Amino acid sequence: MKPQSPYLTDEAAIITGSGNGIGRALAFEVAGEGARVFLVDSNEQKLADTLAELHAKGHEAQGAVIDLSLAGSAQQAVDQARAAFGSIHMVVHSASPPRREADTWRTVTREIWDEMYHVNVKTGFELARLVGQHMIDEGIAGRMVYLTSLHAHTPRNLPHYATSKAAMLMLVKELAKAWARHGIRINALTPGAIAAGGFKPAGDLALKIPMQRLGSAQDVAAMGLTLLIDRFSGYVTGTEVVVDGGLSVFNWFDPVQ
Ligand SMILES: NC(=O)c1ccc[n+]([C@@H]2O[C@H](COP(=O)([O-])OP(=O)(O)OC[C@H]3O[C@@H](n4cnc5c(N)ncnc54)[C@H](O)[C@@H]3O)[C@@H](O)[C@H]2O)c1
Repeated sequence: MKPQSPYLTDEAAIITGSGNGIGRALAFEVAGEGARVFLVDSNEQKLADTLAELHAKGHEAQGAVIDLSLAGSAQQAVDQARAAFGSIHMVVHSASPPRREADTWRTVTREIWDEMYHVNVKTGFELARLVGQHMIDEGIAGRMVYLTSLHAHTPRNLPHYATSKAAMLMLVKELAKAWARHGIRINALTPGAIAAGGFKPAGDLALKIPMQRLGSAQDVAAMGLTLLIDRFSGYVTGTEVVVDGGLSVFNWFDPVQ
């Protein structure tokens, strides 16, 4: 266990969805603690911009443009990350397709449903399995953080999104139980209403949040980093850490301030 910052020197992380929003913010946090970061995103321009900014700050970063909704994409990501850095010590799975308000129970298509499930659940599982096996084989006490949602528990009017996040939460619990004896930890990180790229706040939502503001990608990334560092979370696995400014304790009977 490393005594003080930087906490992640000599380690390497795969971070999906790191071209934007929370994944991007986590890439800077993890690199800032001395780790090498391998970014995976389907958006070529955003990935290139993030890599350029990491390099400008002197961080060791590489990346690959990969569509994680495709079969074989997890293997592709792991192969490329291992070719770049050798051993992998951390995984952050933040990639998730856009959530469009139009995709309700009535309108969501099979293609949109499948894309959401492939990126979040199937590729999420395959990525974890591949890296988890690698960690076990190499005796690495690895850490993983999977981005879920408050809508793993409450409806969002987007059934493909909410059910996929609920499935991810159980995936985290399954893997945490299976891997704890190997020293590998995996946790769910649950953002509330975060003004990152993937969420467009409407109306007076901020006033319904007890802390009276939307969250930032940075708010979530700071907790994600905590979950990756044994010094702060070494006895934490298979759980869900909520970063929502108190949104999930909003009470409809309270007068809006
Ligand atoms: N922002 C919020 O309020 C909020 C709330 C709850 C949960 N979350 C979760 O947190 C995570 C990050 O959210 P965000 O707001 O930063 O999202 P974002 O849309 O800003 O970023 C997501 C990134 O994933 C990438 N991506 C999308 N589909 C992909 C694919 N098929 N293959 C590879 N990359 C792909 C995008 O290009 C983008 O860079 C997501 O899992 C999201 O569901 C966010």
